[in-house]
Amino acid sequence: MPAVDHFPADQWARVLAQAWRDTARGRLGYQHPLGHAGLREEIAAYLRASRGLACAGDQVVIAAGSQNSLDLSYRLLADPGDVVAMEDPGYLGARAAATAAGLRIAAVPVDSDGLDVSVLEALEPAPRLVFVTPTHQFPLGVTMSLERRLALVAWARRTGAWVLEDDYDSEYRYGSRQLDPLTVLDRAGRVVYIGTFSKVLFPSLRMGYLVLPPGLVDGFEAAHLCSDIHRPVLEQAALARFMEQGHFAQHLRRTRELHAERRICLLEAARQRLGGLLDVQEAIAGLHLLGRLPDGVDDRAVCDAAAARGLDVWPLSLHAVNRSTRGLLLGYGGVSPALISSGVTALADAIEEVLSQAPAAV
Ligand SMILES: Cc1ncc(COP(=O)(O)O)c(C=O)c1O
Repeated sequence: MPAVDHFPADQWARVLAQAWRDTARGRLGYQHPLGHAGLREEIAAYLRASRGLACAGDQVVIAAGSQNSLDLSYRLLADPGDVVAMEDPGYLGARAAATAAGLRIAAVPVDSDGLDVSVLEALEPAPRLVFVTPTHQFPLGVTMSLERRLALVAWARRTGAWVLEDDYDSEYRYGSRQLDPLTVLDRAGRVVYIGTFSKVLFPSLRMGYLVLPPGLVDGFEAAHLCSDIHRPVLEQAALARFMEQGHFAQHLRRTRELHAERRICLLEAARQRLGGLLDVQEAIAGLHLLGRLPDGVDDRAVCDAAAARGLDVWPLSLHAVNRSTRGLLLGYGGVSPALISSGVTALADAIEEVLSQAPAAV
């Protein structure tokens, strides 16, 4: 969760009112399946400036967040029974949508350089699709190296597979330089870029987008016509205004600072109170940190003990096909410094409780 407690609600109410006046004037009938033209242009300009994507507005398709983008992509780019390769551990939402689309999952391990492309290259037959989070691997938090990125786009070109690049939180990076997205490195048009406003604005907006190689645009238009015709137009028009009037850039600057402060606050509280209980790793991006539990400690039991204390902490094993991967995901973006501090104290209690119940496991 991002810092939704700092969302500029009054500005949003104003752009919504302006957008409603435009809508009431001429947009009450069906609109374009690919989305509001002004918003698609704003997103393309934003991605050209912030991520170096050489994209035009007509390659941008509006969707209901990354989840809807994934669902459409799986159903359009693969057939039931096809194999999709996924990072392991990886994003549960991506795996669930693939299973729902009838795809088979090939779990590919992740190390400190991201998805292990040599394992992918050895899969027989080659998967039809691969889902990756190169900027900030979810959930481990590593960045895919340039060498792996180049190997992945070369593999996709050779095999004709599609790569789904989920760039869900690239806006939040603390310190080190960004690497080029796969979409920028891809010369063969095999990469579909998936972005979302869930982390930069708020998740209940349900607004995201795909940036497509030009040859896929008509297919996605047909897919929208078959599923929802188009996303509701009012919020799209409001968001276009929000971006055009500079509120988006301003909000991003503000939340970057807030998230950076909250990250430091969590690291500091963990250093003071979680020593020997949880090894919290210093990810340089995103809105969550990963903590490693002592060997043999059940991360789900710790999450249950944390929930009993009012904490919402995710077990790493939930996101893994290989369930021996244990740890805790600690989101800090949507949590005030005071709550981070009391939450870390409660988490230390929860881990100690689980350790005391199974001392032999440690
Ligand atoms: C890896 C990853 N991708 C995408 C998202 C955002 O999903 P959506 O845009 O559907 O809200 C999340 C949210 O937690 C995520 O962890």
